Amino acid sequence: MKLLPIFLSLALLSASGAFAQGAARVEVYKNAACSCCGGWVDHLRENGFAVSTHDIDDVPANREKLGMPEKLGSCHTATVNGYVIEGHVPASDIQRLLKEKPKALGLAVPSMPAGSPGMDSANPVNYDTLLVERDGSTSIFSKH
Ligand code: CU
Ligand code: CU
Repeated sequence: MKLLPIFLSLALLSASGAFAQGAARVEVYKNAACSCCGGWVDHLRENGFAVSTHDIDDVPANREKLGMPEKLGSCHTATVNGYVIEGHVPASDIQRLLKEKPKALGLAVPSMPAGSPGMDSANPVNYDTLLVERDGSTSIFSKH
């Protein structure tokens, strides 16, 4: 009977671990024909994220539904832990977002910069990851 509390606390520990993992699942909404979207999904999985993909016909309509401004648009929109992620955002930025938990809509890398994750290129360009507020305003979250 003395072992019971140990079993209970072990069960609680593993349950909370499972919850933390489940909470960081990324839901990706993309067009079935988009190959760079698949490259970004691979990048997230390689960096420890659980990812579910959803092939949809109208990526812009879904983006608007999720509150991400059209001017920040890219090829796919994702959600994770209540945040909206637009475009080829590096996994390290998403990890930082989930750690710092700012009050915001989410992150965006507008358009599709050459050299961003999933956009492998011999001629990479510099780009910014933007923190997007719920009113659509932005600030620079990180530089790449
Ligand atoms: Cu893309
Ligand atoms: Cu994409």
